[in-house]
Amino acid sequence: MNRRLELLTAYPFERLARLKAGVTAPAGLAHIAMSIGEPKHTPPAFVVEALRQSLGKLDSYPATAGLPETRAACAAWLERRFGVRTAPDTMVLPVNGTREALFSFVQAVVSSDGRAGRPVVAMPNPFYQIYEGAALLAGAEPYFINTTAMNRFQPDLDSVPAEVWKRCQVLFLCSPGNPTGAVLSLEFLKHALALADRYDFVIASDECYAELYRDDRAPPPSMLQAALASGHDEFQRCVVFHSLSKRSSVPGLRSGFVAGDPALIKPFLLYRTYHGCAMPIPTQLASIAAWDDDDHAAKNRALYRKKFADVIPILEPVLDVVEPDGGFYLWPDIKRDDETFTRDLFASQNLTILPGSYLARDTADGNPGRHRVRISLVAPLAECVSAAMRIRSFLEKN
Ligand SMILES: Cc1ncc(COP(=O)(O)O)c(C=O)c1O
Repeated sequence: MNRRLELLTAYPFERLARLKAGVTAPAGLAHIAMSIGEPKHTPPAFVVEALRQSLGKLDSYPATAGLPETRAACAAWLERRFGVRTAPDTMVLPVNGTREALFSFVQAVVSSDGRAGRPVVAMPNPFYQIYEGAALLAGAEPYFINTTAMNRFQPDLDSVPAEVWKRCQVLFLCSPGNPTGAVLSLEFLKHALALADRYDFVIASDECYAELYRDDRAPPPSMLQAALASGHDEFQRCVVFHSLSKRSSVPGLRSGFVAGDPALIKPFLLYRTYHGCAMPIPTQLASIAAWDDDDHAAKNRALYRKKFADVIPILEPVLDVVEPDGGFYLWPDIKRDDETFTRDLFASQNLTILPGSYLARDTADGNPGRHRVRISLVAPLAECVSAAMRIRSFLEKN
């Protein structure tokens, strides 16, 4: 087997299961899961219906490039949401959720030919775990850029040595960030692109929480906008990743898309043709219905805002919590060991959260997830509120 598989770190949920093993939670309290980032709102009925209506279309192989209508719906949404125009046929590709695309994109891009030194894939730390696994399996060295409260959870790109940038082939950005909820500004994105130009690397911008944000006056910008603002009129060096999982609460549909530089999309399509990851036609037709509609996404966003509005005042007296600019996570500084906190909270309240250190890696400046926990506000509102009360009562006693 591929020896690089041995380099993969146990996934955070495996480590969490080990942490909780042998701990008995109080039987009188129903379990509340706030560890996993799986949206739990009811999927829109019209999307489910579009899927049901198209089940007769299972008799043909789908094309890897997707239906023209699917690419057009994604491009139309990009234009409504970010004001950017993309050519659907050369700049947009449907993917079976961004997870597989984030992984496969790195396999398609990273190359050991013609460049000195081991390839680097740079990423924020903490980060969505796929970035690191993708880098390791592609034979690249992951380079972690810490995001902390000190830098407002923005990766400090200027802290990266030139020697690392010279070997960098892919820079991952995530905005709104998982787990921090931080949004990267247009200025930040333009600066990242200037570095990509200078050192010749590609930016993979994970924007799958782009529809979940706090302030209607400041929706998170896309790397595609930064590209246009930097004179990259064909989105040179940029690929963005978008998903219906969070926007439309359909994580089980496995539907997203990538968009950007046609010089990257074309070879990525070739890679995917061999990999065999075309999106089933019923999934595409349901996805078109979802991308075409913005009302349900606004309603979904409002549900998360209501959760933050109700949960934060309960936690504020005992915990350093702030509403993030985007996403659906709280990422508080708990000022103590995050594994012990997670285990003790489970033992006392039958409530599962995720130790922050599981989402980050140790660096010379420490592990930026240490002393933090990720709390996902994915459960129904009433459950989130009772979870907040349990955390508060736990902290009042501990
Ligand atoms: C930052 C980030 N990127 C990508 C994904 C993958 O989402 P999906 O594969 O459902 O599109 C997730 C899922 O939790 C995520 O948190």
